[in-house]
Amino acid sequence: MKYQVNPKFPGCSSLLAVIETEFDRSKCILQEGRNTIKKVQYKGTELVVKSFKKPHFINRIMYSFLRTSKAKRSYQYSLEIANFVPEAIAFIELHQNGLIANSYFICEHFDYDFTIRAPLTDNNYPEREAIYKAFAKFTFELHQQGILHRDYSPGNILIKQVGDRYIFKIIDLNRMDFKQLSFEDRMRNFAMLWASDADLNLIMLEYAKLAEFEPSKCQQLAQFYNHKNKRIKNFKKRLKGMPVND
Ligand SMILES: Nc1ncnc2c1ncn2[C@@H]1O[C@H](COP(=O)(O)OP(=O)(O)OP(=O)(O)O)[C@@H](O)[C@H]1O
Ligand SMILES: [Mg+2]
Repeated sequence: MKYQVNPKFPGCSSLLAVIETEFDRSKCILQEGRNTIKKVQYKGTELVVKSFKKPHFINRIMYSFLRTSKAKRSYQYSLEIANFVPEAIAFIELHQNGLIANSYFICEHFDYDFTIRAPLTDNNYPEREAIYKAFAKFTFELHQQGILHRDYSPGNILIKQVGDRYIFKIIDLNRMDFKQLSFEDRMRNFAMLWASDADLNLIMLEYAKLAEFEPSKCQQLAQFYNHKNKRIKNFKKRLKGMPVND
């Protein structure tokens, strides 16, 4: 077993030995797909545990000797950008015959009210413009800190409303880049939102104000990447015979 526990959560060290049973015991599934995410109550704290699928043989070798596992990356990146994410608690890698098998990333449960998907998919969602302004500001702050989330898709952007303020947290952190961001990097980062042209224009208008960029240039380039992403995804869907919706 390889692991690290955030020193702020000493009570969670004992979870390491029982992680598999605690995870299996929890009935509160937040998402099930490639990976499984569950809410787990442990010593009075609500935790989110993400269980990463056991990689196939080649990747088991890669992740054991050459690359950092997704669980460990999620943990390390979370600590680096602590203000922007639910607080990291631990990562655990279980090894069999010297190769990584199951791995877990544990963080605090963020009691969010909605994800950015809600206003993006519902034209009547309350306070959409205020949410988009706050979202543009949050994204601008990430970018200014040199943080590029490479899976900046709606389900990974959690939002809690407190009075008339919005608190944002990003999750799904195993694909991040830390670098000084170019104008292209910044504009391309909005492409996975699957926003309508009108919504993206609102977001980019606010972003341009904060960054002191030319609004029309931001809107044009963000739309270019947005349309390109939709074309590629829709092409793949058509190949698979799936319906397309935009
Ligand atoms: N810390 C958290 N607090 C509250 N809810 C969370 C937290 N982490 C994850 N969730 C919930 O679980 C969902 C999925 O999480 P996550 O994005 O990490 O997994 P995923 O999308 O299945 O991962 P992948 O894209 O790697 O398959 C989120 O949309 C959210 O509803
Ligand atoms: Mg996700």
